Amino acid sequence: MAYQTLIVEIEDYVALIRLNRPEALNALNSTLLGELAEALKAADANEKVRCIVITGSDKAFAAGADIKEMSDKSFVEMYTQNFFTDNSDSILRTRKPIIAAVAGYALGGGCELAMMCDFIICADNAKFGQPEINLGVVAGIGGTQRLTRFVGKSKSMDMHLTGRFMDAAEAERSGLVSRVVPAAKLMQEAMAAAQKIAEKSVLTSMVVKECVDRSYETTLQEGIHFERRIFYALFSTEDQKEGMSAFLEKRQPQFRDK
Ligand code: HXC
Repeated sequence: MAYQTLIVEIEDYVALIRLNRPEALNALNSTLLGELAEALKAADANEKVRCIVITGSDKAFAAGADIKEMSDKSFVEMYTQNFFTDNSDSILRTRKPIIAAVAGYALGGGCELAMMCDFIICADNAKFGQPEINLGVVAGIGGTQRLTRFVGKSKSMDMHLTGRFMDAAEAERSGLVSRVVPAAKLMQEAMAAAQKIAEKSVLTSMVVKECVDRSYETTLQEGIHFERRIFYALFSTEDQKEGMSAFLEKRQPQFRDK
């Protein structure tokens, strides 16, 4: 499938989705978010995909929502079009694991998109920010909520109120990203992580994702209850039998996603 604003490659069970609007530092417009929703849906449905990586360019993961597209809109248009909501929610509907591989700017909607992925690996030149306040608006696809949960209230307030950027070291220290790697090695490291995930049972990966995500939506006790029910349920799968037999027989497991 050919896209105007994305480059999608599938190799060795990993779908690599590259945001591709270099002229606007990958600013997120309706076309890009619509195509991303389609690409994610297709990857989720494709048996040849077991993990997804979303990345941008060396200079920008995405510099935010497209300001040119938004600037003249009225409240009524934004509200009735439910601007960006359906397409950005598609990231959350994706059941296979998604890694954000971030180099350069991840600002506004770009930072929010990265935070909607399951985890973020960033290059040492990455810069994260929620500078919407400089435009007279606030984050619109989850930034005030997710950044606060990820890095705590004080730093989230600082980022949203001052509009300052956070560098890669601070992002790692604050728990926003899982790893920082040299810029030249970003794709190698992100693809290696994706390959590791692709070796597992995709069924189990989806379950892990559902359990961890649950921790943001419920109490500790309910979350642990949810995890335990699922843990027990996995004993009905072939992959549990295969995983544990392979360990005991000192061989690599052959998962069949069943
Ligand atoms: C549209 C953008 C853009 C954006 C950059 N460009 N960011 N176009 N929307 N968000 C365009 C510029 O207009 C310029 O195009 C080209 O990309 C290169 O950008 P420069 O500014 O010349 O590059 P540089 O000087 O290196 O500065 C990089 C930058 C700066 C610091 C990232 O571009 C910047 O501050 N961008 C805006 C960041 C921002 O405010 N993001 C939040 C958006 S609101 P031309 O044609 O002039 O060469 C948001 C809300 C989300 O995300 C809610 C969703 C519902």
